[in-house]
Amino acid sequence: MCGIMGYIGMRPALPVLLDGLRRLEYRGYDSAGVAVMNGGRVEVRKAAGKLARLAEIVERAPVDGALGIGHTRWATHGDPSDENAHPHTDCRGRVVVIHNGIIENFLELREELRARDHRFRSDTDTEVLAHLIEEAYEGDLPAAVERALGRARGAYALVVLSADEPDKIVAVRRISPLVVGLGQDETWLASDIPALLPYTRDVLVIEDGEMAVLTRGAPSLVRIGGGPVSRAPFRVDWDAEAAEKGGYPHFMLKEIHEQPRALQETMMGRLPDDREVVLDGVGLDAGAARAVDKVWLVACGTAYHAGLVGRALLERVARVPAEADLGSEFRYREPVVGPRALAVAISQSGETADTLAALREARGQGARTLAVANVVGSTLAREADDVLYTRAGPEIAVCSTKAYLTQLAALTMLAVRLGSARGTLEPQRAAELIRGLRALPTLAQAVLSREAEIVALAERLYATEDVFFIGRGLDYYVAMEGSLKFKEISYVHSEALAGGELKHGTLALVTPGVVVVALATQPDLVAKTASNIQQVRARGADVIGLATEATAPALRPHVDTLLCVPAAHPLLAPMLAVIPLQLFAYHVARLRGNDVDQPRNLAKSVTVE
Ligand code: AGP
Repeated sequence: MCGIMGYIGMRPALPVLLDGLRRLEYRGYDSAGVAVMNGGRVEVRKAAGKLARLAEIVERAPVDGALGIGHTRWATHGDPSDENAHPHTDCRGRVVVIHNGIIENFLELREELRARDHRFRSDTDTEVLAHLIEEAYEGDLPAAVERALGRARGAYALVVLSADEPDKIVAVRRISPLVVGLGQDETWLASDIPALLPYTRDVLVIEDGEMAVLTRGAPSLVRIGGGPVSRAPFRVDWDAEAAEKGGYPHFMLKEIHEQPRALQETMMGRLPDDREVVLDGVGLDAGAARAVDKVWLVACGTAYHAGLVGRALLERVARVPAEADLGSEFRYREPVVGPRALAVAISQSGETADTLAALREARGQGARTLAVANVVGSTLAREADDVLYTRAGPEIAVCSTKAYLTQLAALTMLAVRLGSARGTLEPQRAAELIRGLRALPTLAQAVLSREAEIVALAERLYATEDVFFIGRGLDYYVAMEGSLKFKEISYVHSEALAGGELKHGTLALVTPGVVVVALATQPDLVAKTASNIQQVRARGADVIGLATEATAPALRPHVDTLLCVPAAHPLLAPMLAVIPLQLFAYHVARLRGNDVDQPRNLAKSVTVE
């Protein structure tokens, strides 16, 4: 989710680039840089840290020129540093690239290029592209870019300058977004519309698999490997704030809808085939995996709910004893951890004080530590022995959604990796899970396409003052997450409980009209949940069932409303079942007029105990 800005025209490029990058700051970043064409030379300025640091650098060492590109980096490969900041150049400093996304096969490409004496200055995947273009260049920059990309696998938005062709910008989109702003003899380029709005509202979208060549005339669009593309620009009527949210009313809704992409990016390069899971950053070899005698998962809030699902997957898939505990409880229980334990700390921000303290407690007892984190270079990521990054991109809304989903995907991949390494997971079962993971982004998109059903439900129920979420097994853990989503932004009391616990007390609270959301995605438990539903309906509850297409027939006769997600491997169903619950919480909160992105009393990252 990096920020990209480009300009070619008659103005000084530098202020346009800095202004554009500032308008993309909400995308989050850890370093920034610019490259400006100045009399046949490309001048690069870049630095770790916020834009203000880059602005100081260009203040001290300005660059003139009316053609340039700029980048704010949300690190995925290589910690935030001056060297890893974009732009990156080839050996001679004549080809300059900025990039948003992931080059899956960069390690093998880098080895190849090094073997041909290319010198690398950074740890990033991006830099290989500059050297590939350098090699492919034979006097035609667009053609060289196309040839170079023929070697690269992954998702990216790539922008290239060359001192050998100082009057053009070449941009290529492969999944990650890129838009062109049209002016009179000047053209802008950005990863997101807000950066264009001060200059133009006439926007041309670069679609997936297309290359744009920007000059001081009209831009040209071609299909990679195909012919020219003609597409009419559209007129943006959003204001700047709406544009930052991609046209959504709130960051939370935008992030809910980003989940298919976030899943795709988190799994990219990690599921090379049906046989194995490859976890960059996790050094657990087969011997170390077999030596693990227990996995402790520690986290807070939503991340803890992900840990509960992770615990179940580790036991069922990897057959390793596992326990999930709250970061705020773990260190006070005097846990018996031991040197053969693996402590998995889960955190979107990587800065949650209670989770950090739990990680340190486990490490103090000799455990190996693994962070599942979303922010590269965060404290948790730096302190753990291994890091498995989720690649959800910046999560702005306090209410965590895409981070949770990608945490589940990461924990599932970890369970498969451990199961295969320990020999406790049959290859065909591993293949089933891997195929199921690959199918999830499309299935998640299908769930999102039925948002209207959730809106109708929220319109019926938004005035309710109490909601119970029930489920068994994995459904119970998802019910806990659904309840937290609901209460933290709707401000309505809610409680999650194991279906089997109803008759042990809570049933006393179920009176006519009480809303109960019953999750039943697990085929082996749906009958038992159906009987829990009968218990609450007999007391007049208003029951919303949440099932998969496979379990829906058993649930339909017993509920007032049935929400259905596509059939999926039961162990992967939580990644689909949670989406309607996120949407339900969002729309109830919206209808209640709450500040959805910044709910009262809460912070995005709880850095105090
Ligand atoms: C969830 O919607 C909340 N924002 C909160 O529970 C959050 O998940 C918790 O504070 C943990 O944050 P972390 O993932 O950054 O560690």
